[in-house]
Amino acid sequence: MSLILGIESSCDETAAALVASDRRILAHRLAGQEAAHRPYGGVVPEIAARAHVEILPRLVEEALAEAGVGLGDVDAIAATAGPGLIGGVMVGLLTAKGLALATGKPLVAVNHLEGHALSPMLADPDLAFPYLLLLVSGGHCQLLFVEGVGRYRRLATTIDDAAGEAFDKTAKLLGLAYPGGPAVERVAAAGEAAAVPLPRPLVGSDEPHFSFAGLKSAVLRAKESGRHADADIAASFQQAVVDCLVDRTRRAIVAAPGATALVVAGGVAANQAIRAALADLAHRHDLPFVAPPLWLCTDNAAMIGWAGALRFEAGLIDGLDAPARARWPL
Ligand code: KG4
Ligand code: ZN
Repeated sequence: MSLILGIESSCDETAAALVASDRRILAHRLAGQEAAHRPYGGVVPEIAARAHVEILPRLVEEALAEAGVGLGDVDAIAATAGPGLIGGVMVGLLTAKGLALATGKPLVAVNHLEGHALSPMLADPDLAFPYLLLLVSGGHCQLLFVEGVGRYRRLATTIDDAAGEAFDKTAKLLGLAYPGGPAVERVAAAGEAAAVPLPRPLVGSDEPHFSFAGLKSAVLRAKESGRHADADIAASFQQAVVDCLVDRTRRAIVAAPGATALVVAGGVAANQAIRAALADLAHRHDLPFVAPPLWLCTDNAAMIGWAGALRFEAGLIDGLDAPARARWPL
């Protein structure tokens, strides 16, 4: 059994966690920066990086205290090394390098997407490889066949926007506060999903990928027409995203058989309409459905600690020259 300190700082959440290789989360601490970015309607990279510098050391101390352990008890130090906003990634990775250097513990440089991909294992002790993963976040929209640590077969990706990006842009268009996803979901609850006719890009297509740019433009036209209530636009938009995600995932279930479960991860997986539709899809295909609790779906350090634990146990440690990467495909 090994114990890993995980650090996450690739966007606007600063987080530290202690995770054991038997899937136990001993502590997790997280500080969002929503208030700092809200006036700008989105994450400002420079502000995020400075905030990580100020907040992260305290969170590491708090996580250690919450777990009742010291740095000396940790077997390795894992941090997100990308992809993400490079200033923030550098703060977390350099903090991990400093701690590794000071303690002599190994460093594990974790791909943020691998963290999302493996995090559902923390939510379900029985979840086993291989599983089919729909990874839907602000920067990514992918279907992955997760075969093992470091073994991800990408079945589909977006050819333009990510699903979370579409939510964020729709929110901005409707004048809703950042972060956009939860705001659109809240407004959609009072609207009619069939009220505004919107396209479902690539639905029914033979090719595997996602596309949301056309949907975004249609939302803009609907808003500019002045003929629809914002709640109806939000509800119709959300339904279109649901239909796209379900159709593409259904295609992947058929194209890549043999998964033990259908799993959803990433910030957009916090959306209740999306969760319910995917649960129904899994049920129709006799697949168990795994959706982590909301806090594990959005950015956090437990997923980085867990990916770090699996990599550490597989002997996959990194040198202190590990690069910080703005782009890093899984
Ligand atoms: O995984 P995540 O926390 O950060 C990365 O992009 O890595 O995902 C953030 C994204 C944002 O686009 C946010 O608007 C979206 O997830 N999101 C949601 C909801 N909660 C967060 N989208 C739709 N409905 C939600 N309830
Ligand atoms: Zn993320």
